[in-house]
Amino acid sequence: MEQFHQTAAGLTVLAPAKINLTLLIAGKRPDGYHELESVMAKIDYCDQIDFQWGTSPNIELVCTGPFWAPDGPDNLVWRAARLLLDKAQKDLSVKITLTKNIPAGTGLGSGSSDAAATLLALNRFANLSISHVDIHAIAASLGSDVNFFLEGPLAFCTGRGEKISPISVAYPFDALLIIPNVNTSTKKVYSNYVHDSKRYSLWADQINEYLDKNRVDFAVKMCANMLQESCFRLHPDLAAIHEQAERLTGRKVCLSGSGSAMYCLLEHQDSSIIQRCCDTLKTKFNCISRIVHNNRW
Ligand code: C5P
Repeated sequence: MEQFHQTAAGLTVLAPAKINLTLLIAGKRPDGYHELESVMAKIDYCDQIDFQWGTSPNIELVCTGPFWAPDGPDNLVWRAARLLLDKAQKDLSVKITLTKNIPAGTGLGSGSSDAAATLLALNRFANLSISHVDIHAIAASLGSDVNFFLEGPLAFCTGRGEKISPISVAYPFDALLIIPNVNTSTKKVYSNYVHDSKRYSLWADQINEYLDKNRVDFAVKMCANMLQESCFRLHPDLAAIHEQAERLTGRKVCLSGSGSAMYCLLEHQDSSIIQRCCDTLKTKFNCISRIVHNNRW
């Protein structure tokens, strides 16, 4: 599976989801954002975006697929395309079709990934020759997670999340991804967050030591996500799903980003245990579950 495919009609790009393998908050910044330290990994669960020349002036965005997304300026795909064409000072007519396979508001970064994929693909499709540095600047203006999706597939992200240090050692993994039928608001989860500087120092020392030794696997086992408490206080139903998933798998289950999705790293798991877990979470909580892997790009 490659990210870009040239088709007879135009260019197709895949936009992979991410999970946060660790997520620490160092504190609140004067600009209202939180200072983040997060190991993020792309996974092989993707939205698809198709680019064709349009017939009407401007950008036409059509959204399709199992999950809903807005089809105008509220969509980061539309905004990314607009900003890129403005930067190139070109008013081209482009038809963009977004196939939304990943639900928004789940901490999987799909909107941000769609935006990053749009910047990369439209630059190619329309031969805009915008530099990678300029693409990064546009990405940062669209959202905190967008820059990561221009790089990866595994990186340590700091600042608002927009400063990316790629991790060069590979960390292959299989995970059970659990997607509750709940959409969280990143903004609300952050504003409900109560900072715990002691926990931050403790976890940061440990994680930095592991990362210095290239032991991403040890860092991941900590299941460190400082937004989890805030998310579960706002959504007690997610706390219940988390508890049930840990009981059913007999393993740690971690929250991705500000939720609602959770994942459990798999190591020689009995497939019947995993299947039973998926079935129970579907019946009791209407969760979607799927097995995912680390993405190669
Ligand atoms: O940057 P993005 O639009 O993804 O962020 C959504 C909201 O999440 C921000 O408006 C902010 O309230 C919160 N946030 C934060 N600190 C971060 C990232 C996001 O407080 N590092």
